Amino acid sequence: MGIGPIIRHRLGKYEIPAAEAYRNRFINLDDLATTLASLRPAKRILEIGAGDGSFGQRLCAAFPDAEYVGIDISDQVGRLFRGDRGRATFRPIRSDELRAENPQPFDLVCLVDVVHHLPEELRLPILDDARALTADDGMIAVKDWERGAGIAHAMAFAADRYVTGDKTVRFPSREELRGYIDSALPNHEVILETRIPPRRNNVLYVLSRLGPNGV
Ligand SMILES: C[S@@+](CC[C@H](N)C(=O)[O-])C[C@H]1O[C@@H](n2cnc3c(N)ncnc32)[C@H](O)[C@@H]1O
Repeated sequence: MGIGPIIRHRLGKYEIPAAEAYRNRFINLDDLATTLASLRPAKRILEIGAGDGSFGQRLCAAFPDAEYVGIDISDQVGRLFRGDRGRATFRPIRSDELRAENPQPFDLVCLVDVVHHLPEELRLPILDDARALTADDGMIAVKDWERGAGIAHAMAFAADRYVTGDKTVRFPSREELRGYIDSALPNHEVILETRIPPRRNNVLYVLSRLGPNGV
């Protein structure tokens, strides 16, 4: 275990503001959720690798009519979520397990800062699960941290490797991330490629399925 969970539990009521302040140094999650909401409406949203529920909370705010499902390998999934629990569900299951349940397809499937946590052999399969769980006219959003050389990247690496204690962390270059997407999601087009403030390392790809004639 990294030092993060130990410190977090000791913070008590200050845990959420401290976690928010810390994450805000790396990414503006409100901006990310608003960007996605500006593209297409969504009634059913899935987040794969939902973590403590921070981004799920933003998604529920940006899509006020949507039903949200957050899944994660952690049994603590959604622990810090403070949004509307009436339309948010958190489940400690893997994406392939959810896929096996054959749920009603989702209009938006998000993977935010998940790919860099995965061992290499799981990167394409998790994107394939995202594909299988998305409605024909839905969107897949993949946001990850582009490997870089500056102080911000060193801080991001230290946070993921030593604070969360995740030994498999390996940040992709932008080209690698694009390569995973192109391999796992053929017959899809990138409808948005952008960066999310405050760091250029935050690369977002949003994809939608091409029609039967490839358009
Ligand atoms: C940095 S957190 C991101 C949480 C959330 N997406 C957010 O942005 O607030 C990465 C999450 O990915 C989860 N994760 C790692 N491997 C996973 C896998 N194979 N399937 C699902 N989640 C996974 C971790 O448990 C962790 O909660």
